[in-house]
Amino acid sequence: MYEAIMYQLARRALFLLPTETSHHLSLQAIALASQLGALKLLPKVAAHPVAAMGLTFPNPVGLAAGLDKNGDYFEALSELGFGFVEIGTITPRPQAGNPQPRLFRLPEYQAIINRMGFNNLGVDHLVAQVRERQFKGVLGINIGKNFDTPVEKASHDYRLCMEKVYAHADYIAVNISSPNTPGLRDLQHAEQLSELLAVLKQTQARLADEQGRYVPVALKIAPDLDDTQIADMARQLVKHGIDGVIATNTTLSREPVKRSPLAGEQGGLSGWPVRERATEVVAKLAAELDGALPIIGVGGIVKGGDASEKIKAGASLVQVYTGFIYRGPSLIRDAVAAMG
Ligand SMILES: Cc1cc2nc3c(=O)[nH]c(=O)nc-3n(C[C@H](O)[C@H](O)[C@H](O)COP(=O)(O)O)c2cc1C
Repeated sequence: MYEAIMYQLARRALFLLPTETSHHLSLQAIALASQLGALKLLPKVAAHPVAAMGLTFPNPVGLAAGLDKNGDYFEALSELGFGFVEIGTITPRPQAGNPQPRLFRLPEYQAIINRMGFNNLGVDHLVAQVRERQFKGVLGINIGKNFDTPVEKASHDYRLCMEKVYAHADYIAVNISSPNTPGLRDLQHAEQLSELLAVLKQTQARLADEQGRYVPVALKIAPDLDDTQIADMARQLVKHGIDGVIATNTTLSREPVKRSPLAGEQGGLSGWPVRERATEVVAKLAAELDGALPIIGVGGIVKGGDASEKIKAGASLVQVYTGFIYRGPSLIRDAVAAMG
C-alpha cells in the first residue's frame, strides 16, 4: 500500500516532465535504488513457478520488450520481482529511431502511443551489457532489423543478431510486429514468414550444436492480424518447430481512443485499449495451436485480473509494459496473486 502511494507520487512528478526524459529518469532511479539496496525492501512477489519453452520461470509475469532496449537496466529491473525480463529490440547496427516527440501518454485510457522506431545502441552494446550478467532469472533478448535493411534481406539481420546474443540469452524473441519500422510487419505474411522461420531454425540448430545449449526462439506478432492470418501463423509456427509465440505487440487501431486529442499521432497503441484485442488473439492462437507451443500473452494488462484473463485465454506466461508505467511494481504482485 505504502509502496503504491509512493509510486503514485513519484509518477505524478515524473509525468510533468517530457515523456522520454521521465522514461530515462525512471530507469536511472531504479538502477540507483538497486545500487543502494533499496529494491530489496520491496514486498516480495509470491513464488509461482511455470515451466515453458524448456525453461522454469519463477513466476509467470515478465517485463515486455522496449523498456530496456539496450540491456542497460535488466539487473535492477529484475529485482522488482518480474518472473522474466525481455530486453531489446536490438538491431545489428545502432540507430537513432524516429525524430522526437515519438512517445505520447494517454493517461485517461492508461495507454501509450509510440513511434520510437527501434532506437537502440546496436547488438554489440547489448552483448557487452549482458556478457557478465549476474541475474540468474530468465533473460529474453528481443531482436529486430535495421530500418534501412530491405525486407528481402531481413533474415540477414535476424541471423546476425541471433549469432551474437545466443550465448547470453535464455530465450530469443524475434520481433516482426513493430508498426514503426516500414515493411517489418510484411514478414508476418505467408511466404516471407516461412523463409524467415526456416533461417531462424537453421541458425538455432547450428548454434545449439556449436555451443552445446539449445536456446528457445519465440516469435512476437501483431494484434492487427485477421483470423485467417492467425490460423496461417499458427500452422507455420508448428511446422517450423518455433518454441513460443508472444502475442501481441502494439496496435495500429485507434478505435478505442478515437476521442483522444492524441489519437491522430502515428505509431503503435498499447495499454488498456489493446487488452481486449490482444486477449482475442491469444484465444484464437490457443485454439489453433492446441498446446503445440506456449503463448506469452501481452497487451493491456493494467491490473491483476487482466493477467489471469490472458492465462484463461490460453497463455502460459504474460508480460507487461504500459501497465507497469502507470501502476509500478505493485502490478507484478497483483498479477501473480490473481493467478491463484
Ligand atoms: C514505448 C514502447 C516501446 C516499445 N518497444 C518495443 C520494442 O522495442 N520491441 C518490442 O517487441 N515491443 C516493443 N513494445 C511493445 C511492448 O513490448 C508490448 O508488446 C505492447 O506495448 C503491449 O503491451 P502493453 O499494453 O502491456 O504495453 C513497446 C511498447 C512501448 C509502449
